[in-house]
Amino acid sequence: MKVLIVGGGGREHALAWKLSQSKSVTKLFIAPGNPGTAMHGENIPIAAEEIDELKAFALREKIDFTVVGPELPLTLGITDAFTAEGLLVFGPSKAAAELEGSKAFSKELMLRHNIPTAFYKKFEHAAEARAYIETHKPPMVVKADGLAAGKGVVICQSAQEALEAVDLIMTEKAFGSAGKKIIIEEFLVGEEASFLAITDGKTVLPLAPAQDHKAIFDGDRGPNTGGMGAYSPAPVLTPELQKEVMEKVMLPAVSGMEKEGRPYKGILYAGLMMTKTGPKVLEFNCRFGDPETQPILMRLGTDLLEALLAAAKGNLDEVSLEWKTEAAVCVVMAAKGYPGDYLKGSEIRGLDKAALLPDTVVFHAGTASRDGKVVTSGGRVLGVTALGVDIKAAIENAYKAAALIEWEGAQYRTDIGKKALR
Ligand code: AMP
Ligand code: GLY
Repeated sequence: MKVLIVGGGGREHALAWKLSQSKSVTKLFIAPGNPGTAMHGENIPIAAEEIDELKAFALREKIDFTVVGPELPLTLGITDAFTAEGLLVFGPSKAAAELEGSKAFSKELMLRHNIPTAFYKKFEHAAEARAYIETHKPPMVVKADGLAAGKGVVICQSAQEALEAVDLIMTEKAFGSAGKKIIIEEFLVGEEASFLAITDGKTVLPLAPAQDHKAIFDGDRGPNTGGMGAYSPAPVLTPELQKEVMEKVMLPAVSGMEKEGRPYKGILYAGLMMTKTGPKVLEFNCRFGDPETQPILMRLGTDLLEALLAAAKGNLDEVSLEWKTEAAVCVVMAAKGYPGDYLKGSEIRGLDKAALLPDTVVFHAGTASRDGKVVTSGGRVLGVTALGVDIKAAIENAYKAAALIEWEGAQYRTDIGKKALR
């Protein structure tokens, strides 16, 4: 079977690594991919949002199955475009991807189907948002409605900060049209967890839970990023809580989307806050998490292709997933300056040494090839991921590998996975 993966980050390297192990895959393409995905298939220089070009490529190469990594092509309608040509795709339709594409839509859906989430208000005019802030007690959370690569969310400890966030998003348009609408949300307290499931629109098959680390610095300090590391399993999601999340969040979301004429197929990712009164949804994403996918797929024992194919074809009820008992930890190594402006083009050394370590995979994210060398080309550069008999051992293994890798200004958190040890 000829398979195309769309995207070029750490998540897509993890998908390429896992899918290349499937016996049914005869040829793997990744568009645009990165030097890491090139170890498992052929990179094609088409960007993830160039849907017409991707479609032409898939038709020309007679691609049997396409797996879409990032949210942008999904919200732009890649699944609809491919399906219209008879191409089989894994990922939700444009209408279903609104669940991530618009926070206002996602909040309204949760309200309509009694899915627990933070109290919120939606605003289309800055003046109304300002008036609301003046009359409500901080802390509060200001969010751009549309896609902003995980950066359109501002946690505000004071009214002043909230007013500045409204200016940044609505007046200065820091996230472009993503900030035409905003929502202002109640601040939730608790530990976060990522709950991902594969669904064909009826059956919802949970993946092993994971935990991300959104903030740039140790101790969850500093601005939010796309994610600085992740681990799986996530002990905070006990088996009882996982059951509760399935019943109160995942199943109602999938059946709610079906009832509203937007059948949801693909990965449904719920970002959760585990509050004193139970799990509440911070956001839905319409795709695999990055970096959660890296540790999750390291632990998956089952052939991933079979599961994704079954979801796309609508027979996911015939699939079950097996998980390794080992834990996995992913430490993201980022470029100097990230999540702000960052340096590009630094030569990365030590990848060959890290590659020799057992049960360790260094997933590439923002890397490029130059004169036979691997250089940095993005904010999040590598996801150093390792298995271990337990979280503690996996942490040690991942940091052992990270210590072998260096470039000028490389930065990473030193406390990934620590929360799970408590
Ligand atoms: P989101 O993209 O909506 O998941 O928000 C990004 C991050 O901001 C989350 O992972 C949380 O760390 C934080 N966050 C978002 N909403 C809230 C909230 N209502 N209360 C506390 N933290 C939040
Ligand atoms: N790691 C957060 C995300 O994928 O949205």
